[in-house]
Amino acid sequence: MCGIVGYIGTKNCIPMLIEGLKRLEYRGYDSAGLGFLDENSKPKNIKVKGKVADLENALNGNGHFSNIGIGHTRWATHGIPNQTNAHPHSNKEGTLLLIHNGIIENFGVLKKALINDGYTFYSDTDTEVLVNLIDSNYKKKEDLFQAVRYDLNEVEGTYGIAVFHKDYPDQIIVAKNGSPLVIGIGENENFIASDVNALIAHTSKVVYMEDHEIAVITKNGFKAKTISDEKIKKEIQEVKLTLEEISKGGYEHFMLKEIIEQPESLRNSIRGRLLEKEGISKLGGLSGYIDRIALSKRIIITACGTSWHAGLVGEYMLEQYTNIPVEVEYASEFRYRNPILSPDDTVIFISQSGETLDSLAALKETKRRGALTIGLVNAVGSSIARETDCGVYLHAGPEIGVASTKAFTSQVAVLALVTLLIGRRKITSPQDGMEIIKELKSLPEKVEKILQLNNEIEKIAENFVDADNFLYLGRGYNFPVALEGALKLKEISYIHAEGYPAAEMKHGPIALIDENMPVVFLAPKDSVYDKVVSNIEEVKARGGKLIAIASENDTTIDNLVDYSIKIPSTIRMLMPILNVIPLQLLSYHIAVKKGLNVDQPRNLAKSVTVE
Ligand code: M6R
Repeated sequence: MCGIVGYIGTKNCIPMLIEGLKRLEYRGYDSAGLGFLDENSKPKNIKVKGKVADLENALNGNGHFSNIGIGHTRWATHGIPNQTNAHPHSNKEGTLLLIHNGIIENFGVLKKALINDGYTFYSDTDTEVLVNLIDSNYKKKEDLFQAVRYDLNEVEGTYGIAVFHKDYPDQIIVAKNGSPLVIGIGENENFIASDVNALIAHTSKVVYMEDHEIAVITKNGFKAKTISDEKIKKEIQEVKLTLEEISKGGYEHFMLKEIIEQPESLRNSIRGRLLEKEGISKLGGLSGYIDRIALSKRIIITACGTSWHAGLVGEYMLEQYTNIPVEVEYASEFRYRNPILSPDDTVIFISQSGETLDSLAALKETKRRGALTIGLVNAVGSSIARETDCGVYLHAGPEIGVASTKAFTSQVAVLALVTLLIGRRKITSPQDGMEIIKELKSLPEKVEKILQLNNEIEKIAENFVDADNFLYLGRGYNFPVALEGALKLKEISYIHAEGYPAAEMKHGPIALIDENMPVVFLAPKDSVYDKVVSNIEEVKARGGKLIAIASENDTTIDNLVDYSIKIPSTIRMLMPILNVIPLQLLSYHIAVKKGLNVDQPRNLAKSVTVE
């Protein structure tokens, strides 16, 4: 949520900041701005409502040169998306500029105090309060770093900030609490960003800021402290990410590229992690913890959105193969209950970005209560990956499309690996272990086969561009897939969609069925197939438009439904990985046919780093 970039060095930073913002645009895209010191050391603050391309247009022809600057792409929290509320925000004189990702929760109280001191405000944002608070402290202390540090001790909420002042043309000050911030280390130049995607064109050496840390960055280096003034030593790390991985690579949209990448992302998720002869998995990130995990009295999985759906699949798997009771919780709810946790519990955090604020907050609460924490995270070096006791990376590669696709299939695959690891210590036989491995290995090829149905699915999509509602129904392992299919459709096509356990339909949603209601059934030939067929009959009898995701050897389903998409089969625990792919493609094509921007759907951002 909100992208942050910054540069200090000897080169012209304007094009670099624009390029960095473009790479971060998936984090928020309602307005954008740049703050820099121009060739006469005069602060400039250029902001627009709209996308980074609009900011670029606003800058065009200005010919500015600057070697210190900060940039921001916004996802609005306080105040509508417009030019006034866009970042950077500045003090009255325009000498102090600040960009912010996060929410200042006590901004109301702070604002009142500043108004009493004679400050006036031009925007509706919490960020403007922060910049004026620093301004007020700076005018008292006459030391920018101390003013920012002091100010952050008064602030409640979350922030990743970057600040500079006309009086300090050779430094940018950054600080973090709850929102990600990373420093990129160069030669005679340094960078900052809210994630490494914005840096890797320039450097692979990075320093991750931790909560309550503040740093002053110059072109020659950086010095970090805690906001309570303790000295700290930060480690420089090497990131292994290439520009190719974060570009569209000839595809029209990141979402399509990421759907198509799934055979490869699945291969990467399982590569080197299977011990075929023993029928077990090898997960280095959990070694040293596996005894404790296997002895857990309970496993809790917590996540948000698509990652939560993967967690639901994990619940079915873990209970079936480990016999350990499992609960799945929305991270946003978990943190606001009084979760009963003990050191006998293991809590798994699933997150693509590793920065989702609700999941991070749930993680902190879990650690306070002594349960073991495991992270199943895609983004290497992200906060959840760093803060969990142990974990497994998904290795799905960067996911840029706001609608999560390949992360979901990798999450389910990694949950299968974790299930195998624990299950073999509990109730899973070597034969069952070997069967799971065989099926895991066959997934990439089966996914490739499903992707060949792309054109067929695109044709089916044509019939649903004008639909107002959709129902997705599945049983057992496929119930979470129904939820995921519905989420994919609503977030990118703005069609209202709901997922339900197929058998629950008759307890209410069946009232919605008429000839205008498309219903997608997940109907693989498994042990509940006949029951799902009965549910299909119930919808058919009421005139609903039927789409079935069915097994390739199913010849009878065509007589029941309007459209069938036939896909290969696997064991039940892995079917969600195959079943979800036609649903991803269906949503994608419906949204594209509606002329919508699937990579940047309205009101959304890729990584939700606010509450
Ligand atoms: O990065 P995370 O996996 O923690 O993100 C969780 C959700 O915000 C995310 O899955 C969201 O629901 C996606 N837009 C779904 O496509």
